[in-house]
Amino acid sequence: MPSPSLDELRAKIDASVRSLTDESARVRDLQGLEDLRNAFLSRKRGAVTLLFEELKAVAAEDKREAGQLVNSLKVLVQDKLAALEASLAAPTAVRSETDLTLPGRRRPWGAAHPLRLFQAEIESIFVEMGFGIEDGPEIETDFYNFEALNFPPNHPARDAWDTLYVRKDADDPKRDLLLRTHTSPVQIRVMEKRKPPIRIIIPGKVYRKDQPDPTHMPMFMQVEGLVVGEGITFAHLKGTLEHFLKRLFGEKLKVRFRPSFFPFTEPSAEVDIECLQCGQKDPACRVCGGTGWKEILGSGMVHPQVFKNVKIDPEKYSGWAFGMGVERIAMFAYGIPDVRYFYENDLRFNRQFQLK
Ligand code: DAH
Repeated sequence: MPSPSLDELRAKIDASVRSLTDESARVRDLQGLEDLRNAFLSRKRGAVTLLFEELKAVAAEDKREAGQLVNSLKVLVQDKLAALEASLAAPTAVRSETDLTLPGRRRPWGAAHPLRLFQAEIESIFVEMGFGIEDGPEIETDFYNFEALNFPPNHPARDAWDTLYVRKDADDPKRDLLLRTHTSPVQIRVMEKRKPPIRIIIPGKVYRKDQPDPTHMPMFMQVEGLVVGEGITFAHLKGTLEHFLKRLFGEKLKVRFRPSFFPFTEPSAEVDIECLQCGQKDPACRVCGGTGWKEILGSGMVHPQVFKNVKIDPEKYSGWAFGMGVERIAMFAYGIPDVRYFYENDLRFNRQFQLK
């Protein structure tokens, strides 16, 4: 065999570099990498191995340069293989092409809390009847929470509202700060700044010093109502609350009014509805205790002293008010045995009340 010239050798090496470039671009996996390694470096048929074989026949004076040429090819091949190996080991997401035709990922929508939904239902019934919606601060003064609502200082009626105090005012007890124990102080705030006629409801959170148990939470929700105008009577109170309760629980619902006491109303009445749990039939019913009735709200004619406290003339105007616990009514409406379920944020519970 004639000895190959350096030029011939260079041409073969160039061809090898081109095929190295072409073939390495096609490597997709470890098997492809292995095939490429064999094609160049296999001990018997590798392209680089065969070129080293050819060196033997190169003329003595060209051997050194020829050797360096083939060796640089070998180094090039080894570097290329190492780089490919590293890129194959990298996380697949980096290499894989993004499939732009895939649909986007859906994120779950947030939803209103069951109590908010129930509150909205209560609101919509009153809005239908022409009531407006008001709110007020959750941190109140003694004056708005008690004094102006006709609770005299040290009056025993205050004990019924287990108050959480924020700050006692040594100079003036009327300025004691507390967490409002009911939504009634907002009645005072509204009557202070607006002249009759007034027809509003006041939904909001209230606080009492209670241990959580199946029927108590230290924070709960109330909806207050207030109607003030000329010629407003107890008949309006009765008719409106009856209508409201029937809209909520059904036309056939039995409702009764019982005399009661609140410092800020005279006369006062508590409203009971028939026990929907037992249909007034189970003497051992755990919801109504066998009485057949469930107390649902407090109400009454606004006390003349309350009107005087906000500078509304009790000779000219009269009014009525009510307050109810949202959890209490929701529990009754849905047959929920424990008020704490509303505050656990267990989605399995909450989702039952979402609109479909
Ligand atoms: N504020 C009372 C409570 O928390 C509920 C109430 C009763 C509100 C009678 C009223 C009312 O406006 O007239 O128990």
